[in-house]
Amino acid sequence: MRHVISITDFTATEIFEEILPGCRAQIAIAKKRQAGKKTWRQQRDRKATLLFLEPSIRTRGSYGEAARLLGWSCTEIIGAEATSLAKKESLANTARMLAGQGAGVLVIRTKIEGMQKFVAEILEKEGYSISVQNGGDGTNQHPTQTFLDLLTISEKLGRLADFKIGFFGDLKYGRTVHSLICALALCQNISLTLASDPETTLPNNYKKLFDQAVEGDSLESLFDCDIIYGSRLQEERFLGDQIALERASNRFRLTADTLGQFKNSVLIMHPMPFVKEFAVEIRHDPRLIVDQQAWFGMPTRMYLLQTGYDNRQEITALSAEIQSNDLQILKSVPLEEYLREREGRKNQHQFFRPITDNGMVIDHIPQGLGLIIRKYLVEQKLIGSGVKHLIEDVPSKNYEIKDVLVLSGSLISDEAMGAISSLAPQITFNLIQDGGFKKIKIQTPGIIRGLGKCPNSNCITNHDPEAGVKFVNQGNGYLNCWYCEKEFSLKEIF
Ligand code: NCD
Repeated sequence: MRHVISITDFTATEIFEEILPGCRAQIAIAKKRQAGKKTWRQQRDRKATLLFLEPSIRTRGSYGEAARLLGWSCTEIIGAEATSLAKKESLANTARMLAGQGAGVLVIRTKIEGMQKFVAEILEKEGYSISVQNGGDGTNQHPTQTFLDLLTISEKLGRLADFKIGFFGDLKYGRTVHSLICALALCQNISLTLASDPETTLPNNYKKLFDQAVEGDSLESLFDCDIIYGSRLQEERFLGDQIALERASNRFRLTADTLGQFKNSVLIMHPMPFVKEFAVEIRHDPRLIVDQQAWFGMPTRMYLLQTGYDNRQEITALSAEIQSNDLQILKSVPLEEYLREREGRKNQHQFFRPITDNGMVIDHIPQGLGLIIRKYLVEQKLIGSGVKHLIEDVPSKNYEIKDVLVLSGSLISDEAMGAISSLAPQITFNLIQDGGFKKIKIQTPGIIRGLGKCPNSNCITNHDPEAGVKFVNQGNGYLNCWYCEKEFSLKEIF
């Protein structure tokens, strides 16, 4: 493990057989060192840099304490106003600077979603020896919190399988909830219950990780859970949507009364800060294990700092160039031969007619996608002034109905063809060029680069000029942004 960016980057084996045992092994060391029982070897040449552009007490504090318990040096930079970001320096250049100043591990907290992934990508590609760790990116992920949450569950419940867990409060914007649900989806026999207001329900991309998540709108639906996990209303994430904020009632509040209705053995967790979620009278109830949960942040981050540092030169998937497109030539003949062959066929569609000079016919486009592709080609100025003729709803042999796009006088690059193919792999390209005819199909790795725009205004691709757009095609009309991980339909992106 080098970087810690998103729980979705880890396999079950890595989380449960490497990382958690590693974190657990730090518990005794952290306890001893905190109790001042022993001095330990200082490693001041190892530096953690904490760049916290959003408020934090637990994550930043426990990383700082973890660094102290390891004998490292630690630089804390708190608030964008304390940095040259306030002078409009880019995030990329800020990160390069901190790496150059010797950070072995760079922990970032920000509201910009996908920033840590982008920073890890550029620093790794530029040869910096550094581990980048995500201390929370907007509403997206908070993976280090998840490791400490899992450690808490395994220490307090004694297992990481076979339990009922209920989440309550703001499940839409709570990033700790998102990360933890991604990890729980890798555990055996977990049942999930969700209690939130309609304005703060769990986004679909997380919900669909559990086939049978039960959804309710009150604490009652959680009464038979072994664990309940709260999330405060994330007011700062509503981005001025005052109406939604007022509607999100924030009425989830555990009192002595409600607690009496839960299982006696229930474990109540919360990443903190909590605001209204717990009545003062239950603050010291032994079922509320939030203080121990927060303490586990220190051994967890001791492990993450050390392991990230030890592997700070590892080559990860982030620096691997994306697999290139595989271009298959299905046919290549002189144009005359091709035209003769077509003459012989009956019931020809007319769309090849206008092309006798250089041009291209993009065929087998799934119905409805033709418009999106044409819009993209025009907007990206990938085609010149040639005729762009879209024929929609053409009956087809293989697909019931297809769209066909004719570019007369224009050819597009292999890259653009790859991008189009990654939207729908069945698309074929008929090229007429210099007296020859070629039929091409392209197999892509399903990654679309440089096309469209991420609709998420908090995505790094909308905040750093060096962060180009990149999407992962799910193949069902939906794409995920490579950086902010949010899911969008084709129409939203193009
Ligand atoms: C959370 C966060 O920042 O996402 N806190 C934490 O790191 N322990 C939760 C929150 O702010 O509600």
